Amino acid sequence: MTTLITNIKELLQIRNENSTKVSGAEMAILPSIKNAFLLIENDLITDFGSMEKMPIREVDQIIDATGKIVLPSWCDSHTHIVYAGNREQEFVDRINGLTYEEIANRGGGILNSAQKLNETSEDELYSQSEQRLKEVIKLGTGAVEIKSGYGLTVEGELKMLRVIKKLAQNYPITIKATFLGAHAYPSLYKDNKEGYLDLIINKMLPEIAKEKLADFIDVFCETGYFSVAQTKKIIEAGLRYGLIPKIHVNQFNSIGGIQMGVKHKALSVDHLEIMNPEDVEALLHTETMPVALPSCSYFLSIPYTPARKMIAAGLPLALATDYNPGSTPSGNMNFVVATACIKMKMTPEEAINAATLNGAYAMGISTTHGSITIGKKANLIITKTLHSFYQLPYAFGSNLIDTVILDGKVYA
Ligand code: NIG
Ligand code: FE
Repeated sequence: MTTLITNIKELLQIRNENSTKVSGAEMAILPSIKNAFLLIENDLITDFGSMEKMPIREVDQIIDATGKIVLPSWCDSHTHIVYAGNREQEFVDRINGLTYEEIANRGGGILNSAQKLNETSEDELYSQSEQRLKEVIKLGTGAVEIKSGYGLTVEGELKMLRVIKKLAQNYPITIKATFLGAHAYPSLYKDNKEGYLDLIINKMLPEIAKEKLADFIDVFCETGYFSVAQTKKIIEAGLRYGLIPKIHVNQFNSIGGIQMGVKHKALSVDHLEIMNPEDVEALLHTETMPVALPSCSYFLSIPYTPARKMIAAGLPLALATDYNPGSTPSGNMNFVVATACIKMKMTPEEAINAATLNGAYAMGISTTHGSITIGKKANLIITKTLHSFYQLPYAFGSNLIDTVILDGKVYA
């Protein structure tokens, strides 16, 4: 199957195969071609350039993109899309004055979702999660990482990871799976933390590895959740099974999780709402991608990741949704890009780099996803007719996506 997209007003994020992430001042540059064509053969991008240089050849399908912008699909490197039920009541409780922390301390929060998940069958969990996956695909996401972490029992965690695997088998979107057994201590282990670490390391991990259910290992490294020492123990165990670390750190407190993550070559460290100068310093000249989650800051009214400080220091930055029932019930990457511009003062160029190529890097797939590059996956967004790509973050509440292409085929 060959598809030719013609008359593209602007083709964004064109890169050669050597660029796998962008850092610091480079983030302000978003290479593009105006009045362009793009050729897709099967599931891959095989040619692109300016319209004057378009080869004359037979194709199966032509898509005329006059007035429209084409860019790589969003790469959402941090989500918890697989969950059961919702936490709408906690949302209202927060409006009425309770904090996220107070809700968690009285047995709500992650433990509330864990109880719901353990009471929900695998089939029902699949169908609830599938609705959200379909929703984010239509919103332009072409690659997504999904975490476990609402099971907190051997069966619950396996159930979540099996659902993620099934979604990956049934949908053309690229999916990476992360084991987040260390998301919270279940009530049963509240006075036996060592016992829960032992369950994660000696029961959950071997099963997950045997069934090949995860690519990455994650821990919620935070005061009141998992300490730096406990996080270290868990990621070292994960590494023994070949799972690469991606860690929730510095959401509410800076406790040294970044330094430990970098030492263990974490692929990413995520949240980063609270960043000391030493935290920024620790990330410089490393292979670890910092990931900001602005929709979480928005929903919880907590600080935004200090993007300007981090980019000025020379760091790369990725943007992801954190789609989950408690802190971010939204998987809309368009809103993430807009919020990064509006609240974190990232330029549209920086935000799009962060949501495509750097997002792909944070999932370990930037050699195949995240840019318009010959040989990369044809996972693309074709926008509606736009004045310029600045309209994407500017018109923050509008859906400006016309067509979504996954694996070289029109999906929606
Ligand atoms: O990334 N911070 C930890 N975990 C999730 C939220 C979990 C929840 O509230 O359900 C997050 O924000
Ligand atoms: Fe998260």
